[in-house]
Amino acid sequence: MPSVTDPEMRQAVADRIRFYNDLGIYDFYRREPASSEVVTSLQTERDSARRQEPIEEMPRTKASVAVVAAEENSSLAASSKPEAGVQDPVRALQIIREDIGDCTRCKLSKQGRKQIVFGVGNPNADLMFIGEAPGADEDMKGEPFVGRAGQLLTNMIKAMGLSRAEVYIANIIKCRPPGNRQPERDECETCSPFLMRQIAVVKPKAIVALGAVAAKTLLALNAPMSEFRGHWYDFRGTKLAVTYHPAFLLRDPRQKKETWKDLQMVMRELGLPMPAASSHE
Ligand code: URA
Repeated sequence: MPSVTDPEMRQAVADRIRFYNDLGIYDFYRREPASSEVVTSLQTERDSARRQEPIEEMPRTKASVAVVAAEENSSLAASSKPEAGVQDPVRALQIIREDIGDCTRCKLSKQGRKQIVFGVGNPNADLMFIGEAPGADEDMKGEPFVGRAGQLLTNMIKAMGLSRAEVYIANIIKCRPPGNRQPERDECETCSPFLMRQIAVVKPKAIVALGAVAAKTLLALNAPMSEFRGHWYDFRGTKLAVTYHPAFLLRDPRQKKETWKDLQMVMRELGLPMPAASSHE
């Protein structure tokens, strides 16, 4: 990788990196040519073609703008995450939580959120579930997925032969949007770098994105759920599958059967035993 020798340019890059670090963004990576982005051998060619369509995809995020700024000298940023080098994942997650503080980085801090909903579960989990945003119950308790949708997620996890305590659960954003509206782009862009750091600490073997908002944000890909489901994606070296959001399943329980297929795909990947005769089919 070429290094930046011009002192002015070095300073400019360092200043830019500090600016993004202040926003909580520490992940800088080289943008590969479009043809090699995200898609794995397990992903269909159709998905690959879609990535190049001029559709309403996720815009270049602050993080990806930062990528360009940092591209010339990524070594400057590599060691700047406060949890870098911390071996204990419990402590590393604590450091990320402390870094978030009483966050006011986006407008949700002024729109009635009671508290930040960080994430919960096993810091060494093989499996991580990522939802959209805290709702009223989560905002009240400070824990993701504790309301009705959370109860259903807990049952989904149990159906896989696991417990909530064995997996890690988080959301794309950590504050409740007013009226439970969908998170807005700027909110996802500001908040998701913290999630990226949580993922990097937990190092799950597989991630399940719950619903379209999580899938679109994580994969930077705009597709309907019907296309997201049923494939493995590569998310920064970790396998990622997409299934329906439990809140959607509460509205349309017929889709539970499809969801169970997705979860079985994940169980196979993790080598979890399949129930012999299943009541979920
Ligand atoms: N829905 C989500 O996406 N996340 C939660 O934590 C609760 C409901």
